[in-house]
Amino acid sequence: MKKLMTMALFALSLTACSGQQPPAAAPVNVKSLAGDSRIEDIRPADAMPQYPSRGKAIVRDFQEQPPLIPHKADYAINADKNTCMNCHSWDKASRMKATPVAKSHVIDDKGTLNGANYFCSLCHVPQADNKQAIVENEFSH
Ligand code: HEC
Ligand code: HEC
Repeated sequence: MKKLMTMALFALSLTACSGQQPPAAAPVNVKSLAGDSRIEDIRPADAMPQYPSRGKAIVRDFQEQPPLIPHKADYAINADKNTCMNCHSWDKASRMKATPVAKSHVIDDKGTLNGANYFCSLCHVPQADNKQAIVENEFSH
């Protein structure tokens, strides 16, 4: 009897493993940024984002929002230099007609940048008149 039970259990476990496939998931409609074009198609590039050459940041939407960057933002930020600070550091900002980095970004009254704020683009993103809305946004406040 015991032997029979073991055999039965063994057979059961075999069927369990021998893989009844889980029901196929419903197909997800994934659309790539390239749209409907096939991978081997050559399609015209998207319009380049337009950055105002000099402009004003779009009004902030909520308190504590890092203001958007109203100009191109490919200035080098690396271990050797932070070229954003060529214009936004406390000592250079007024000459460059730029807003000095916020008080929250510095550790003393001379404007020494806090290390946590070194990589500006972690929080500040450039604003651009993008031709193509990539993601729907229904943010409201
Ligand atoms: C050649 C000088 C220059 C450089 C380099 C520069 N900026 Fe600016 N930035 C300006 C000027 C001028 C303005 C417009 C005046 C203003 O609002 O500060 C501005 C505006 C901004 C603003 C909007 C400020 C506000 O309160 O509305 C942000 C944010 C900003 N810059 C971030 C950056 C970041 C991040 C970098 C590096 C990727 C950078 N900037 C590099 C000159 C510069
Ligand atoms: C950790 C996120 C973060 C990083 C990193 C950061 N910022 Fe900011 N920044 C903010 C926030 C949030 C504000 C708005 C609140 C405030 O004034 O503190 C702001 C405000 C500013 C302002 C507007 C100041 C004003 O008086 O209106 C400027 C200019 C600016 N940042 C430039 C920079 C530059 C340049 C860097 C890199 C050296 C940088 N930020 C790094 C979050 C960040």
